[in-house]
Amino acid sequence: MTRNVLITGGNSGIGYEMALALAQQGDRVIIAARGEQKSQEAVARIRAAVPNAQIESLPLDLADFASVDRFAAAALKKMPVIDVLILNAGLYTLKLGKLANGYESMMGVMHFGHFRLVQHLLPAVQAAAQGRIVVTSSMMHQLGRIDEASFTDPSRHRSGMHAYGQAKLANLLFTRELARRLKNTGVTVNAFHPGAVATDIYRQLPGFLQPLIRLTMLTPAQGADTAVWLATAPELAKVSGEYFIKRKQKAGSALSRDAELARQLWQISEAAMPA
Ligand SMILES: NC(=O)c1ccc[n+]([C@@H]2O[C@H](COP(=O)([O-])OP(=O)(O)OC[C@H]3O[C@@H](n4cnc5c(N)ncnc54)[C@H](OP(=O)(O)O)[C@@H]3O)[C@@H](O)[C@H]2O)c1
Repeated sequence: MTRNVLITGGNSGIGYEMALALAQQGDRVIIAARGEQKSQEAVARIRAAVPNAQIESLPLDLADFASVDRFAAAALKKMPVIDVLILNAGLYTLKLGKLANGYESMMGVMHFGHFRLVQHLLPAVQAAAQGRIVVTSSMMHQLGRIDEASFTDPSRHRSGMHAYGQAKLANLLFTRELARRLKNTGVTVNAFHPGAVATDIYRQLPGFLQPLIRLTMLTPAQGADTAVWLATAPELAKVSGEYFIKRKQKAGSALSRDAELARQLWQISEAAMPA
């Protein structure tokens, strides 16, 4: 069966390897990210590696709700049914900052941008025979706390690491609450931690650390493995709302399992969406 797959952050790092692996399996893949040239290069590399690959890119800036809306409309024209939606795009910044839409950068892109995207794309995932949503979270969610005031006031965070942790905790809470809402619909949603993976996400770390990162961390292909498995493994057809590391189910932090917190975050996020 050829799956229709959409991957945010599919032009680089872990997302690129997911796109390559799924294209190799014969799936039809759309990769979504900001850098158009980078995306076209990624598409060209996948086409070179996989003869007859069905792969294309569409521009998406998760920092901008209007861009998310435009992207969703274009994506739905190309893919009215989505078998696999992978919410993977992300960033880590040492310096805390705000997006033009007022949100703290990491929470704004990784949580609110993806929340908006799912509002548009969920019906297309529900139209699939067995739709799956896969969310790239991180072990760093353990550092995170949900502090609503910090969503628009980055100065409340002690460091970029704590803001990143909150956004990754939000990814997990989103996964749990969406799974609860989709119970008995046939659509599953699961999250994973890819491991410490040598990718561009560490580009802001000092230059002398870069060779060490490449030497000691996992390769992007290794980082993508659990996501590809979550997206395709027949034995996971009914597994939903869970968190995985190296294909093993993990509990995650106590906060990440707090159903009431997940519900509250969902309500805040819904209220934050533009009309
Ligand atoms: N590497 C690790 O050790 C590690 C560990 C745990 C979790 N993760 C998570 O893994 C995911 C992938 O990261 P990676 O390590 O593969 O890093 P990466 O190579 O830097 O990839 C990040 C991707 O996100 C896209 N992106 C960033 N900002 C975006 C925006 N505003 N709108 C749309 N796309 C955006 C980037 O493309 P453009 O810049 O072209 O938009 C790129 O495709 C992230 O969610 C990250 O938090 C990584």
